[in-house]
Amino acid sequence: MEKILITGGGGFIGGSLAEELSKDPRNIIYLFDNFLTSSLGNIPINKNIYFVKGDVNKKNELKALMKAHRFDHVFHYAAVVGVKRTLENPIGVLNDIEGIKNILKFSHHTGVKRVFFSSSSEVYGEPVEHPQNEATTPLNSKLPYAIVKNIGEAYCKSFQKEYGLKYTVFRFFNTYGPRQSRDFVIPRFIHQALNNENITIHGEGTQRRTFCYIQDNIDFTLKTLQTHHYVNDTVNVGCGIQTSIIDLAKLIIRLTGSDSKIIHLPPLKEGDMSMRMPDNSKMINLLDRPLKPLEEGLMELIKIESTRKSRIVCM
Ligand SMILES: NC(=O)c1ccc[n+]([C@@H]2O[C@H](COP(=O)([O-])OP(=O)(O)OC[C@H]3O[C@@H](n4cnc5c(N)ncnc54)[C@H](O)[C@@H]3O)[C@@H](O)[C@H]2O)c1
Repeated sequence: MEKILITGGGGFIGGSLAEELSKDPRNIIYLFDNFLTSSLGNIPINKNIYFVKGDVNKKNELKALMKAHRFDHVFHYAAVVGVKRTLENPIGVLNDIEGIKNILKFSHHTGVKRVFFSSSSEVYGEPVEHPQNEATTPLNSKLPYAIVKNIGEAYCKSFQKEYGLKYTVFRFFNTYGPRQSRDFVIPRFIHQALNNENITIHGEGTQRRTFCYIQDNIDFTLKTLQTHHYVNDTVNVGCGIQTSIIDLAKLIIRLTGSDSKIIHLPPLKEGDMSMRMPDNSKMINLLDRPLKPLEEGLMELIKIESTRKSRIVCM
């Protein structure tokens, strides 16, 4: 039996991970979330999933849970996320450093075997090389969200060095799939396209991103857990093919057969990097299969969203 704690477990990636882990009845999964960007309705349901409401940045809310359950593994995924939200709440974002310290401290005190920390491609800032490699690309992070992830990585390495606490840092690049909030580009574009609303883009839309389907993310992260790979290491988790935001919007309009028009808003003043692409060879080596092509992932999501929409209309 494995006892696993997922912070941010009410969210997109944490909830998807919990759902997959819960398929093995030997796992007991605890989700810890303060519903900053999620709600009770997002929580995956299974008899081996338990939910605790709390704030990871508040020591006392986390301490009792971690002491009582002595988890085998911890996935620390709770964070203030989203470009707009993180730019508008820089102090709240910086506060997440407390949560990282709390998780590592209690993991060390309670004998956790390995902590998995969700860092971000944002640590590369405006990248100075392409693709971005875990070991060679300098970390150019300047914004609070990216700085917190950078500090989080440093804390993981320092706890390992001083106390021997094992870690794996995942640098997630743009990930998409069911359960993701409309604050993010793909669910927003699909929603707008299915409703024939204008699709809004900041700037010309030439900024390029890679998009990784959630199942590829989950299959990889679970494999690192199950095969004991990438212990005390950092791994880019993302797709290796870039798409511009304008091409993404056009593709979604085509796949949905929508009448939506593309509207350009002024460019964001900060936080919208011109390009981003991982060297994902470490991920692919372990996963040992190709990642889902963008068009296929989008078709799956569009099908799910269309079904949801028709159910709402029928009710
Ligand atoms: N989705 C992506 O494309 C992406 C890319 C890079 C990094 N990440 C990282 O992956 C992790 C998961 O992201 P996601 O996309 O699932 O986001 P999400 O917003 O869906 O999930 C985050 C969850 O954390 C919870 N939370 C926030 N602050 C908390 C706190 N102090 N205490 C307890 N719970 C708290 C929120 O309520 C939410 O349920 C985050 O750490 C994020 O920075 C995600």
